[in-house]
Amino acid sequence: MFNLILFGPPGSGKGTQSEKIIEKFGLFHLSTGDLLRSQISFQTPLGLEAKKIMDRGHLVPDEVVVGMISTALDENSQAKGFLFDGFPRTAAQAESLDKLLEFKQQSIAVMLALDVSEPELIKRLLKRGETSGRSDDTNEEIIAARVAEYKNKTEAVADYYRQTNKVVMIAGEGTVEDIFERLSNEIKSRL
Ligand code: AP5
Repeated sequence: MFNLILFGPPGSGKGTQSEKIIEKFGLFHLSTGDLLRSQISFQTPLGLEAKKIMDRGHLVPDEVVVGMISTALDENSQAKGFLFDGFPRTAAQAESLDKLLEFKQQSIAVMLALDVSEPELIKRLLKRGETSGRSDDTNEEIIAARVAEYKNKTEAVADYYRQTNKVVMIAGEGTVEDIFERLSNEIKSRL
């Protein structure tokens, strides 16, 4: 099993590149943002609570996202590997993921971290906000809160994986195809 974390700030291209990676390498895509948005669209109690937090640009509590990931891992145990997108986002989530994988005698092979400048992130998200209907893309204040959460709570997750030499930085600006090639080369070299 090959388990990969695609890491990076909001708007760095995790979702865009994940779609291409799962198609090429046959991994199972696990995006906590997508799982939460699905709960919101079905108006479940979890979704309604999560929406209030997401609309402020803050992180949903660790136990909620870890629970969703745990269920998804169990439901897809036949997968040939998982691509984690937007998870883990705190040190506590990273530790929980390690434990969940260890229980299945699995581990993370690599964290590919997309490097994109802050002005470019803001530009991309505001542009998507014009058409996406994503309420957390619609104003610069909420986008700034998301970037602040990333800096305060999420950036340190890369340090957690650096301890085991699992982090590879990837230049995340340029064309989608060029970035995909950089990511693909790193994945191929580890398969
Ligand atoms: P989530 O859904 O994970 O969103 P995010 O991390 O804010 O990331 P985005 O989806 O906005 O960006 P992305 O990096 O995927 O980039 P994308 O490919 O879409 O999380 C949303 C919220 O859910 C969080 O704020 C939090 O509240 C909650 N949440 C989720 N996971 C959580 C967790 N683990 N713990 C706690 N809370 C959690 O691209 C962005 C735009 O840029 C697109 O329009 C795209 O077309 C464009 N683009 C992509 N690549 C390029 C390129 N190379 N050049 C130009 N434009 C590009």
